[in-house]
Amino acid sequence: MVIILLVVDMEKILVTGGAGLLGSKLINLGPKDFETVACYNRNKPDFDNIREMDLTDRGRVFKVIEKEKPDIIIHTAALTNVDYCEEHEKEAWKINVEGTKNVVEAAKRVNAKMVYISTEYVFDGEHGPYSEDDETNPLGVYAKTKLKGEGEVKNSGLDYMIIRTTVLYGMDRYKQNFVTWVIENLKNDKDIKAVTDQYGSPSFADDVARIIIELIKNRKTGIYNVVGSDIVNRYEFALRIAKVFNLNTKFIKPVTTEESKQKSPRPKKAGLRTDKTQNELKIKPMGIEDGLLKMKEQMENE
Ligand SMILES: NC(=O)c1ccc[n+]([C@@H]2O[C@H](COP(=O)([O-])OP(=O)(O)OC[C@H]3O[C@@H](n4cnc5c(N)ncnc54)[C@H](OP(=O)(O)O)[C@@H]3O)[C@@H](O)[C@H]2O)c1
Repeated sequence: MVIILLVVDMEKILVTGGAGLLGSKLINLGPKDFETVACYNRNKPDFDNIREMDLTDRGRVFKVIEKEKPDIIIHTAALTNVDYCEEHEKEAWKINVEGTKNVVEAAKRVNAKMVYISTEYVFDGEHGPYSEDDETNPLGVYAKTKLKGEGEVKNSGLDYMIIRTTVLYGMDRYKQNFVTWVIENLKNDKDIKAVTDQYGSPSFADDVARIIIELIKNRKTGIYNVVGSDIVNRYEFALRIAKVFNLNTKFIKPVTTEESKQKSPRPKKAGLRTDKTQNELKIKPMGIEDGLLKMKEQMENE
């Protein structure tokens, strides 16, 4: 009797920013369908297959990527603090643009597909919500570096996908996001200011990761918006967070953008349309209520 063994090689995904909010969710989900490797910078994530890789160290980026030979690179790593970027333009440019260039150049050596995580901040917020092919006009330093990063990926000649997302939230070991910040302050009876005139699409990071993996499995290319299904301002979002987590809303103070004195300009009427992603994948992104309830359940099970 002849036994034929069919061994199917799993594709390999390398995730930059593997300890970040979105990166860690991708690494949690990926292994069902892919071999995964998580790259990290300062914070060492608790995953099996990890590699230290500072994006700005070109030699190291080439070494890691040429050794790992991934089929797909999901590039989530970035300097993501919008106001910090505004005041540290050189550093933002070095990490978000030069760092992306390093990843793209190394990806070319191994012919990996590039999946680049971008932002709704590439738009100016005059006429949102935006579709994938609307005209971009970034306002601040962070937004400009992210759009430039998109350009590096688009012009690489590689197979690519650009995922635009926004207001990511979820459980995170290392860093606060809007939801964890609201919860922490309200729990400690501290006042917070939330702007009333900046609209966007809060996005549960676990759900964004799920949709990105589906897009990859479906071999999509080009630009895709991947965000939660509700568009609200930050003040409304803070109220919804307080409601789901049973916290006192009296500490949430509404302010306008002008009053908030944020260092970086931000789009006001933003938000992203997800019709393309929904139609092509036949899936629905989570709304705020469902995302927050899921996060609450995860926190209770911690
Ligand atoms: N957060 C949002 O609301 C939002 C909205 C729209 C788009 N995005 C985009 O989505 C992506 C993921 O966002 P996120 O919130 O998950 O980010 P995050 O939690 O801030 O994680 C970013 C990761 O990038 C890493 N990183 C920073 N500098 C690096 C360097 N020089 N070399 C290597 N790694 C470096 C950080 O590692 P260390 O901390 O160890 O340095 C961190 O793990 C980003 O590209 C961001 O621009 C985010």
